[in-house]
Amino acid sequence: MQIRKAELSDARAIHRLIDSFTYDGTLLHRSYLEICENIHTFTIVETEAKQFIGCAALHVYGSHLAEIRSIVVRPGTAGHGAGSLLVQSLLHQAEQAGTKCVCLFTRIPSFFERFHFHVAEHRLLRDKVWKDCLHCSRRNACDETAMAIGELPPLHDSPSTTPIHPQQGGLVQLQL
Ligand SMILES: CC(C)(COP(=O)(O)OP(=O)(O)OC[C@H]1O[C@@H](n2cnc3c(N)ncnc32)[C@H](O)[C@@H]1OP(=O)(O)O)[C@@H](O)C(=O)NCCC(=O)NCCS
Repeated sequence: MQIRKAELSDARAIHRLIDSFTYDGTLLHRSYLEICENIHTFTIVETEAKQFIGCAALHVYGSHLAEIRSIVVRPGTAGHGAGSLLVQSLLHQAEQAGTKCVCLFTRIPSFFERFHFHVAEHRLLRDKVWKDCLHCSRRNACDETAMAIGELPPLHDSPSTTPIHPQQGGLVQLQL
């Protein structure tokens, strides 16, 4: 097994694999276009013969926070260390980038506890909540555990703590 940064030629395989885990909400939907646009955030694992095994992405919000997203290994190849390789590689990338905290939302916290992630309050990971949760159909009944490693972002320091008021139903109130 070897690990490397993804290239555009990997986008189809990444999309297919992620897509096969979105039907039950295991992974968030990522369109092919979105994967191409963000291909530099993906890392892949492959066999020595360059057969695609799995992928994961590191989304950097800023020096205060990064997020592990879309981590998945092909079912036939799971259990052989590819998932661990991906987590370790992304943690290394986050460290190299000088990120103080790495977070993720998951339904399998025990897998990530192996890498010393600990449970965190969702609301403390504001960037993630604003990026994904506000648009999620399960936002009021989230069954995912928020986890983090490192120094949780102080709420008052986060660059994106400017109050956001999502427009209700997309309507803007007229000021008369
Ligand atoms: C989670 C996933 C990425 C792990 O990949 P993997 O290649 O099987 O992981 P590894 O082989 O490195 O496993 C390392 C250890 O974690 C354990 N593990 C694997 N999957 C696990 C899971 N779903 N829950 C808890 N522990 C798990 C393994 O048993 C192994 O333990 P061992 O070292 O004692 O044998 C893979 O199972 C997967 O793609 N799952 C479906 C997608 C998914 O749920 N992604 C996470 C979204 S947050």
